[in-house]
Amino acid sequence: MTSYEETYAYLERHVDALKTDRTGDERQTDGEVFDRKTLMTIYDLMTSGYIDSVRHPISTGKEGNVFYALDEDGDEVALKIFRTSTSTFKRVSKYVEGDPRFRGVTGNRWKMIYAWVNKEFKNLVRYSEAGIPVPEPITYSKNCLLMEYIGEEDGPAPQLKDCVLEDPDDTYDEVLSFIIDGWRDAHLVHGDLSEYNILMQNGEPIMIDVGQAMTSDHYNARELLERDIRNINSFFGKRGADVIDDAVVLDETLNGDDEEDEE
Ligand SMILES: Nc1ncnc2c1ncn2[C@@H]1O[C@H](COP(=O)(O)OP(=O)(O)OP(=O)(O)O)[C@@H](O)[C@H]1O
Ligand SMILES: [Mg+2]
Repeated sequence: MTSYEETYAYLERHVDALKTDRTGDERQTDGEVFDRKTLMTIYDLMTSGYIDSVRHPISTGKEGNVFYALDEDGDEVALKIFRTSTSTFKRVSKYVEGDPRFRGVTGNRWKMIYAWVNKEFKNLVRYSEAGIPVPEPITYSKNCLLMEYIGEEDGPAPQLKDCVLEDPDDTYDEVLSFIIDGWRDAHLVHGDLSEYNILMQNGEPIMIDVGQAMTSDHYNARELLERDIRNINSFFGKRGADVIDDAVVLDETLNGDDEEDEE
């Protein structure tokens, strides 16, 4: 069996944030997100061949970080690591407990956060099976989620909020289809859809951050749907798109013509 010291030495070579600065004798660690359990999870993802190295953080947030990583073939992947803190636990609990797919998961902080990661993974699978552009899910383990990297070698794709849109109407149509097809084909409502959770790659929007997405039969689903529509309409309105009324989009989502849907 590998000792923790050996494991750690291996990780130090493969996780940039753990690399010791030998000259200054200072550890340039990213701190909290790499607690011992998380390190073991990353190690497992490495020994099972999913990741070769973890490079720089793409994003650092209260509840977790997203890292640029490489797999064994040198291909880019995105590793989202959730902090197993009380604040993460508090935020995710209601979404996990309220989702019929996770009935019975309660209490324990770790279990809840692991269920949350499983939920984000399942939602990605569901969206991508319905043909909605999201990062391709690769695998997940405990508080770590591995997915397709959206971006270039020199940086992740920008968020929609930071983009100048060549054709706002066109992008608006695409984003509307995330809402409408998401509901009708994936049976999900994103629940936090905004210009922050859409990345623009080669002019095409890609939806991210789908952990809180709920099944369309959830008691709160319609309210979430209305909010997503409101947010998207308000953003595209400001960007000069020819926005369709909230109520019309809602009706199309709930009662749209199926034949037209299957084109
Ligand atoms: N698959 C990906 N490829 C490239 N970049 C990504 C990917 N997923 C997330 N990111 C980057 O990380 C950021 C945060 O990701 P995400 O929205 O999923 O997490 P979050 O829970 O909202 O985190 P935060 O609270 O820090 O915003 C995104 O805005 C994006 O810049
Ligand atoms: Mg986000």
